[in-house]
Amino acid sequence: MFYVFEGGDGVGKSTQLGLLKRYLEVEAGRRVYIVREPGGTDLGERLREILLAPESGDLSPQVEVFLFMAARAHLCEKEIRPALRRGRVVLADRFLWSSVVYQGVAGGLGLDEVLRLGAIATSDVRPTRIFVLDLDPDLAFGRFRDRDRMESRPAEFHRRVRDGYLALARRFPAESLVLDGSLPAEELHELVVQSVRRDLEGGAT
Ligand code: TYD
Repeated sequence: MFYVFEGGDGVGKSTQLGLLKRYLEVEAGRRVYIVREPGGTDLGERLREILLAPESGDLSPQVEVFLFMAARAHLCEKEIRPALRRGRVVLADRFLWSSVVYQGVAGGLGLDEVLRLGAIATSDVRPTRIFVLDLDPDLAFGRFRDRDRMESRPAEFHRRVRDGYLALARRFPAESLVLDGSLPAEELHELVVQSVRRDLEGGAT
């Protein structure tokens, strides 16, 4: 089982990831492995630093997408696939859809083009479910004080990010679940758990 949390900056992905981890370990008795994107491996963390540092200047979406995909391919090879083989439930804070939306839709490279690159980078590693936390970027940004390079983008960029996620969810309804990010964290968690419980009862591994 491999669950991914996606959504714009500040929508509450890491809170939900933490709550789901606790549910799986404490209530469902499963062993959980958490990865974060970009990062998660030594190489990935170095690429993350490059991507997020203001000193990197303006990186084009073309450069960004290959750096993100390189980090992701390494993460799939070294961490996610082995963890799934060991029977862990893997939880990810962002995965391929982040690149599709940030570089493909908002950055203009094209949704299908980035999906194709993603198929190369991730190969057979496919999420069981992608939880998309949907929230108006103006509300999400209220939650931030410090902004790194990726987060200091114009409001229009973040609106395209939100629309991009909704477009992906419409296109892949079976793999995704859009959740209202303005709900209180505990209510959102309940919706996540309902979905995961169905997978556990259905015998997913
Ligand atoms: P994020 O996980 O939100 O970092 P933090 O929680 O430390 O703020 O990701 C950092 C930024 O990277 C975020 O603005 C989204 C962006 N990003 C992409 O543009 N493409 C990608 O493929 C990924 C994984 C992230």
